[in-house]
Amino acid sequence: MEEKPLSYEEAIRRAASAIKRFPLIDIEGVPLMSTIAENWKSVSDFSPDPSDLLIATYPKAGTTWTQEIVDLLLHNGDAELCKRAPTAVRSPFLEICAPPPIPSGLDLLEQMKPPRVIKTHLPIQLVPKGFWENKCKVIYTARNAKDNAVSYFHFDRMNLTQPEPGPWDGYINKFMKGELGWGSWYDHVKGYWRERKEKNILYLLYEDMKENPRKEIERIMYYLDLSVSEDVIERIVQLTSFKVMKDNPMANYSYIPKPVFDQSISVFMRKGEVGDWVNHFTSSQSQMFDEDYAKQMKDVDIPFRFSI
Ligand code: A3P
Repeated sequence: MEEKPLSYEEAIRRAASAIKRFPLIDIEGVPLMSTIAENWKSVSDFSPDPSDLLIATYPKAGTTWTQEIVDLLLHNGDAELCKRAPTAVRSPFLEICAPPPIPSGLDLLEQMKPPRVIKTHLPIQLVPKGFWENKCKVIYTARNAKDNAVSYFHFDRMNLTQPEPGPWDGYINKFMKGELGWGSWYDHVKGYWRERKEKNILYLLYEDMKENPRKEIERIMYYLDLSVSEDVIERIVQLTSFKVMKDNPMANYSYIPKPVFDQSISVFMRKGEVGDWVNHFTSSQSQMFDEDYAKQMKDVDIPFRFSI
């Protein structure tokens, strides 16, 4: 009798004992999880279909939120259809590799027919060339540096595949120096910003999405050449609110077992706010961060907001 393929959730449960805090290895100057670095060639050689869509972000900038909005737009706001599988299966994470039997991002993509929605945290210079050669659409979501750092800190506490974050004070320094997984936040947001026009990248800001979700959802709709009714847009606004997504088992990562994501330490859907950084940065940390930020961001004018 042919064996039934493992569900994604079951595959993770079976691999849980092989999970550890994987070290980071440099790929072209960007620190990546060792599991990704070891499979780098196959990631880098990935050839997308021109109809594939890439959602690119620095970790914790609102990736899952953007993925959910896109999936709902592509399915005319059908909430049930968008619960057909967890986020990680509906829009696979291009570069992710984990111990077997967990399927890699590439394994999942191979099983899907284009057009596919693909997630990546790769900085622009590491995105497989095929995306540009095939003129794939790319949505980039960026989040202000302070909230992004706070969110990443809590994520690294509970994501037991990432290096130990250590105390917050030291973590801020690692963030500023680009020593965390996927490298420098500054280079990441600047890289996509500089090429957004030439490469037709839709550049979104988390803070704008929070302030006026309807407007940003409509921007995504136009970018994807879709046309959904006003009612459906309104439904998508509701379905992708933080409150609703937090309770959606297909979007809140509750299917990832405790040896991988220990949500008793910090939940994936943590706060979903703009400005939570004020509860973490002391005034001297904030000042030091701002001084460094001014230097690192002096050559661009990305309209980030630290509060709304
Ligand atoms: P916090 O840790 O600040 O709560 P990513 O999906 O890129 O990993 O980003 C996760 C961050 O986005 C978390 O931030 C999470 O709570 C937040 N988030 C997820 N869904 C959201 C939504 N619908 N609205 C606002 N924030 C959301």
